[in-house]
Amino acid sequence: MKLHTAVVGLQWGDEGKGKLVDSLTKRAGVVVRYQGGPNAGHTVVVRGKKHAFHLLPSGILHRDKTCLLGDTVLVDPMLVVRELNQLRESGVKPGKLWVSKRANLIMPWHVVRDSISGWRVGTTGRGIGPTYQDATGRRGIRVGDAVDKKRLVQRIEEELEWNRILIPALMDYEKVGKKARRELMRLIEIDAKDIASEYANALRQLQKMGVELVDSWRVLSQVQEAGKRILFEGAQAALLDIVHGDYPYVTSSHPTLGGVYVGTGFRPKRLRVIGVTKAYATRVGEGPFATELDNKEGEWLRDKGNEYGTTTGRPRRCGWADLIALRYAVRVNGVDGICMTKLDVLSGLKKIRAGVGYRVGGKTLMEYGEVRMMERAKTIYRDFEGWNEDITGVRKFGDLPKKAREYVEFVEDYVGVRVRYIGVGPGREEMVGRR
Ligand code: IMP
Repeated sequence: MKLHTAVVGLQWGDEGKGKLVDSLTKRAGVVVRYQGGPNAGHTVVVRGKKHAFHLLPSGILHRDKTCLLGDTVLVDPMLVVRELNQLRESGVKPGKLWVSKRANLIMPWHVVRDSISGWRVGTTGRGIGPTYQDATGRRGIRVGDAVDKKRLVQRIEEELEWNRILIPALMDYEKVGKKARRELMRLIEIDAKDIASEYANALRQLQKMGVELVDSWRVLSQVQEAGKRILFEGAQAALLDIVHGDYPYVTSSHPTLGGVYVGTGFRPKRLRVIGVTKAYATRVGEGPFATELDNKEGEWLRDKGNEYGTTTGRPRRCGWADLIALRYAVRVNGVDGICMTKLDVLSGLKKIRAGVGYRVGGKTLMEYGEVRMMERAKTIYRDFEGWNEDITGVRKFGDLPKKAREYVEFVEDYVGVRVRYIGVGPGREEMVGRR
């Protein structure tokens, strides 16, 4: 039985999972996204050309592979059409795509509701929270519902009626200004038949492009029986998990390993989990960030690491690695190996720091905690000497500067898991592998 792989984020997203997934895809038959929606942003650089996706798994760059958007992925079918077309226009023949019939559709009212109340968390504004709310509230519209146009129109009419009551009340509650209110109202006054046509047409177009609507559990079981490897590609990360992250400053899905099972209805027979972390840390949106550098050093990291959101363009908050948080994320995911990305960004720093404990109310704590505690935590740091060498050309661990190796080795000792991949530059090939 082949060994399958899950790639999960260990921080607050944007760790560079896409690049690792892209390189692991060579050995996989199928690449699966199991949660999240177009709030994600993967950037993969292939032969100097940048490809950015929000919904498609990064595996789509490989024409001989199949990608699956699983059961708890939120689908905007018009965006899938656009992303596939963009790839074709840039000369890449995309791989085959399966979309789960159980996946929920992001509808216009979800985006409107996110724009009204998402500000508290600093969401990406893509309708993620409201779509999951409706899914768990048993009023979601699934991809499988949209195939029958009559049923789709009926479901949209029902949901429009509900949202036409809900949205004005939300706008009153959040004191939305007159101009924004007019714009938002226009969006929910659209005719149900027009919305249905847009979604049904996009799905039909996808089917014409060869996209198949499937049952995830069934196709993945078949892939496993055929002896092919499956690669699960997490979006967002452990500390943004709706249960295990910094609630309420989280996304509404399960980026942690449990999301793989719920999001596909399939339990891989053999699975290794690779967790991805940057050599430092970033966060977008609100929420605690104990090792944040709200100063010149943080700006330096942002500039050197080009830390701006792929989805929203927002500048990312930057700081040192928080090894307590990392160890927590490693445990929550049962991580077998770590991929540490962007080590090259730290080149040129005299001193590098990493969080190794917290002081809270006069006590020293060595475990990650809930938001109320993390908001009060003062970080205890360990200092490392930096290195000056350009490491982007390095491909073997032994060829890294000694100080860089010491930093990596400290991290793996601290979290108790080996660092198996190290990113030394943005390109697909700029990676150090380790047994
Ligand atoms: P939502 O997922 O749009 O609801 O946003 C909830 C929180 O997750 C916000 O803090 C976002 O900034 C954050 N978030 C969502 N997706 C990503 C991502 O792909 N990278 C980093 N942060 C994300």
